[in-house]
Amino acid sequence: MTELARNGRMIAVAERDQAAVAGLLAQIQDAHSRGGGSALQQMMPPAWALLAPVALTPEAPNGPLGLFSAADLVSGLLTEHFPGTARAERAQEIRTHIRRLAEAAGLSPMALLTADERNLDPQALSDTLASIARCAADIVRLSPLRQEVALDMPLPSGVSELIEKAEAQLQGWCSREKAEYLARAVLSQRPEICVEIGVFGGRSLIPCAAALRELGSGEIYGIESWSPQVSVEFNTSAVNDVWWRDIDYGAIKENFLRFLVDERLMREVRVIESSSQRSSQMFDRIDFLHIDGGHSTYGSSEDVILYVRKVVPGGIVVFDDVNWATTTPARLILEAVCDPIHTFYDEAGQPACMAFRKR
Ligand SMILES: C[S@@+](CC[C@H](N)C(=O)[O-])C[C@H]1O[C@@H](n2cnc3c(N)ncnc32)[C@H](O)[C@@H]1O
Repeated sequence: MTELARNGRMIAVAERDQAAVAGLLAQIQDAHSRGGGSALQQMMPPAWALLAPVALTPEAPNGPLGLFSAADLVSGLLTEHFPGTARAERAQEIRTHIRRLAEAAGLSPMALLTADERNLDPQALSDTLASIARCAADIVRLSPLRQEVALDMPLPSGVSELIEKAEAQLQGWCSREKAEYLARAVLSQRPEICVEIGVFGGRSLIPCAAALRELGSGEIYGIESWSPQVSVEFNTSAVNDVWWRDIDYGAIKENFLRFLVDERLMREVRVIESSSQRSSQMFDRIDFLHIDGGHSTYGSSEDVILYVRKVVPGGIVVFDDVNWATTTPARLILEAVCDPIHTFYDEAGQPACMAFRKR
C-alpha cells in the first residue's frame, strides 16, 4: 500500500461513484442516530467501505480499533503525499478524532490502537467512527476524478457568465471553445492544484478559476512574469519578439488583478509574478497544468520538462500553440509521458491546442 501511495496512486480513490459515497455515509449516519454506541457493528462495514479505496487494501479491519489504525495510516499517507490540500486537512482531522478518543480514555493514541476496546466507552467509540467516516467521505469527494472530459457537459450559469465577462473585459487569446473545455475539464476532474504558465490578461485562467469556485475547492496558480525581459529571453521569431517587447504589461496585469477582485476570485487564484523557470520549485504535485508561456523552443521545452514531471498520473496537461515550429520539440517531449485526449483546431483546420492525460 505504501508503495502504491508513493507512486501517487491514491487517486484510485477517484474511481468511486459519488452516489455510493453518499449512500454509505447515510447508512452510517442512520445507524448512529438509531443506536449510537450500540450500532457500532452496523456502522463498521459502510465506514470501512468508505475508507477501503483510500487505503487501497480490500481487507476489512477487525473491529473499530482496527479501523482506527487503518484510518491513522491513511491519514499519515495523505498528509505526506498531498500536503497543504483540503484532503490532507481532512486526513489530519482523522488523527484528531483518534487522539480525542484516546485522551478521553486516558491513553496515548498508540496505546489506544492496541487497547482492548471493551474497556472503552461504546458511545465515544461510535462517535469517533462516525466522525472518521465523515472525514473519509470528504476525502473521497475531494479526490480528483479521472473520468472523461465530456464536451457536451452543461456548464453552470455562474461559470458561463464569468467566461463571457472574461472574454469582454480581459485581453488574451483563449477561444470560447477552449475556455469551455478548460472549465469542463476542471469541473469533471476536480483538481486541487492547478497551474497555468502564461496568464497574460487572464482569458484562459478565469474559466478554470470559475470552475474551481463552482466546486468550492481547489486553487489555480497563475505564473506570469509580465516582463519583456522574460518573455523574449529566448528567441521565437523576429516579429513575435518585437511584439512581446513593446506591449504595456503593467496595464494588462492591473486589468487582470482588478477583475479578480471585482469577481471575488481571490480564494481560487494565486498569482505568481515570476518566470516559470524560477517558480517550478514551488510545486510538489500538480493535478491540472496549462502550458501557455514562452513559445521559444528552449522556453517551451523547459516548461514541459520542469512542470510535467510534477503532474500526477492521470492529471491533465493542456498545451497551447502545438502547431508552432518552435513548440514542436516541447510537444514531442510531452507526448513521451502523456496521451492526447483532445485537439482544438484553428480556422485553417490546423491543430492549435491539445489536451493530454499524464500516463
Ligand atoms: C500566449 S501568452 C498567454 C495567453 C493566455 N494564456 C491566454 O490564453 O490569453 C504567453 C504569456 O506568457 C508569459 N511568459 C513568457 N515566458 C514566460 C516565462 N518564462 N515565465 C512566465 N511567464 C512567461 C508572457 O509574458 C505572456 O503573457
